[in-house]
Amino acid sequence: MVRKLPEDKLTVALPKGRLFEQTIQLFNSCGILDRVVSPDSRKLILETEDFNFLLVRAKDVPTYVEYGVADIGVAGDDVLLESRADVYRPVDLGIGACTIMVAGLPEDREKYFSNPTSLRISTKYPTIARDFFGKKGIKVQIIELYGSIELAPLVGLSDFIVDIVETGRTLRENGLVVIEEIRPSTAKLIVNRASYKTKNSRIMDIIEKLENLLVKG
Ligand code: PRP
Repeated sequence: MVRKLPEDKLTVALPKGRLFEQTIQLFNSCGILDRVVSPDSRKLILETEDFNFLLVRAKDVPTYVEYGVADIGVAGDDVLLESRADVYRPVDLGIGACTIMVAGLPEDREKYFSNPTSLRISTKYPTIARDFFGKKGIKVQIIELYGSIELAPLVGLSDFIVDIVETGRTLRENGLVVIEEIRPSTAKLIVNRASYKTKNSRIMDIIEKLENLLVKG
């Protein structure tokens, strides 16, 4: 049986994973969420008086919002660029700052910068990688992975990786270096286009609360 969420409430898609705790903190601080939620919780729907919160995989947040199951959500630029979801992005939340990079072994730098015609790239961001190298006119064979991307150049699965770098610790601990920066990424509040019109005052209220909090720092 399909369970419908109560429509009088706003539904919010929250990203599990690296953005989770900062998102919960932000929503707690501006009074949108009235309780602390543990990242270890296995519950997928959390109902409060005014909201339904859906705990979804970070990569899936744009999908829930684009299809209108969630009215709003939180997603990083990395995930948004990769999904190409058609959603509004009214607020840069400033959390989850990282950079999307090309990285590899230091001894392969020269190969990268000596006009290669083709490269093998491991990544969990195939669209971003294809776009980036397409613009450079470099043919790429994308090897899509779902985690521990840094392993790929170490074992010869690919020449380079396209991945996010936050502290740089994973690169350092595996003897890899940044080869080229693609773009910075931070988390955005995203809004379903129809909900933005039909639930405008409630969504504007959230935007205002978040913006006020961000101004205060
Ligand atoms: C991300 C990313 C890098 C790492 C970068 O992986 O894919 O591996 O974090 O962070 P750092 O610069 O602070 O080391 P994540 O932790 O999401 O795990 P995954 O490898 O399972 O995707």
